Amino acid sequence: MAKSMKDNKAVQMLKAAEEGGYGVIGVVSYNLETITAVVRAAEKKRSPAQILLFPWALHYSPLLIHLAAAACATATVPIVLHMDHAQSEEEIVAASEYPFDSIMVDMSHYEKEENLEKTERITKFLHEKGIATEAEPGRINGGEDGVADTGDLEGLLTTQEEAERFVNTGIDFLAPAFGNVHGNYGGIENIKLDFKRVLWMRTALISGWMDRLESIRKATDGKAQLVLHGTNTFPDETMQGCIKGGMTRCNVNELVLFKYNKYIVENTGKVPLTELMGRGTDLIQEQIEYQMDIMGSSGKA
Ligand code: 13P
Repeated sequence: MAKSMKDNKAVQMLKAAEEGGYGVIGVVSYNLETITAVVRAAEKKRSPAQILLFPWALHYSPLLIHLAAAACATATVPIVLHMDHAQSEEEIVAASEYPFDSIMVDMSHYEKEENLEKTERITKFLHEKGIATEAEPGRINGGEDGVADTGDLEGLLTTQEEAERFVNTGIDFLAPAFGNVHGNYGGIENIKLDFKRVLWMRTALISGWMDRLESIRKATDGKAQLVLHGTNTFPDETMQGCIKGGMTRCNVNELVLFKYNKYIVENTGKVPLTELMGRGTDLIQEQIEYQMDIMGSSGKA
């Protein structure tokens, strides 16, 4: 008998975000500095938050998972532990042995029907263990450190019908493909000299995305919460537009790590390691706090 997902911490957190009309930050974490920054920012802002690990953590060291789980267990505000982009059944089974509140069953590199079939079967397996699931109908293109690039695979926008079929499999969260990509939005960023046109295009594109998002939101109808991927270099108004469009967890990677990454490149070997870690953590924390205000989750814990 599958356990009720009502008591699941991730489900409770994202349902509250949906009802409250705010977003919860999901921070892709590779190290102690990022995990520490999430906890400090969440406690300072009295905001819910999520720590996202990629399956890479399973292969690198389970100690990273234990560290993240301890951070969630000891924080004075709700922090969820989520495994993001688990792309194979083996990794999902392995991850289910750890205290993840939710796991993304990312079968989007398979064809549509296979994605659906695997998602349904694995969702049942994870629900038996009380772990909530996220699925990706369609295909969000691109890649990032720890997630295989979709390479030659065609990006597929999520349709309303697909969203309905995925929700019917019992998933808890749905990651729509509505024009978002993982990693760099090279195009927009590169057209720096043509800013007006870019702005105009951006507005037009955003309204197109919102239409699709709106239809997907209708299909999920509160039965599954929407999750945003691919937020690299997102302007504040784009983030807030997506939350208005129904997004509950907003995954971030470079968006909160870019200052840290630059600092590490510039200072490694030049300052003591303790300073590198301390200042590095502060730089990530500042960006997370900023995004909590933008997403409207500050004070919601
Ligand atoms: P990017 O914005 O860098 O793609 O990372 C966030 C994300 O979507 C992780 O799943």
